[in-house]
Amino acid sequence: MSRFAWDDSISLNIAAIDDQHKALISWIDALYESVQKCEGEQVIGDVLQKLISYVVMHFNEEERLMLSFNYPVFTSHRQEHDYYVTKLKDLQERFRKGEEISGDTLDFMADWIVCHIKGTDQNFGRFLREIPKK
Ligand SMILES: [Fe+2]
Repeated sequence: MSRFAWDDSISLNIAAIDDQHKALISWIDALYESVQKCEGEQVIGDVLQKLISYVVMHFNEEERLMLSFNYPVFTSHRQEHDYYVTKLKDLQERFRKGEEISGDTLDFMADWIVCHIKGTDQNFGRFLREIPKK
């Protein structure tokens, strides 16, 4: 059973971004499951790498959109993205050195991204939705 599932309450009502958020949450869920099932180092490492690649692609996509619309709080939003990528890469580094991925760490990674989508991304979604009225 999935630990983290998509929920309409975190929708931005922008299909392209929502689809990426759904995929991102699925990757976090896949990481959670692979750790919970004690899959081998190879499998967990592979899922973690795919999660990181997806997060980086998604953040780049959001940032590209923000720049194209001169989003006024681009810098602070990007700082949040950078923080999360740094945390993920740090986790990967520790995992490669043999450290196990704890439940607390997984909860933190999942809670952070849900908070980011519900808060910071919602602000951006509102901005995008209001553009035609400006
Ligand atoms: Fe974002």
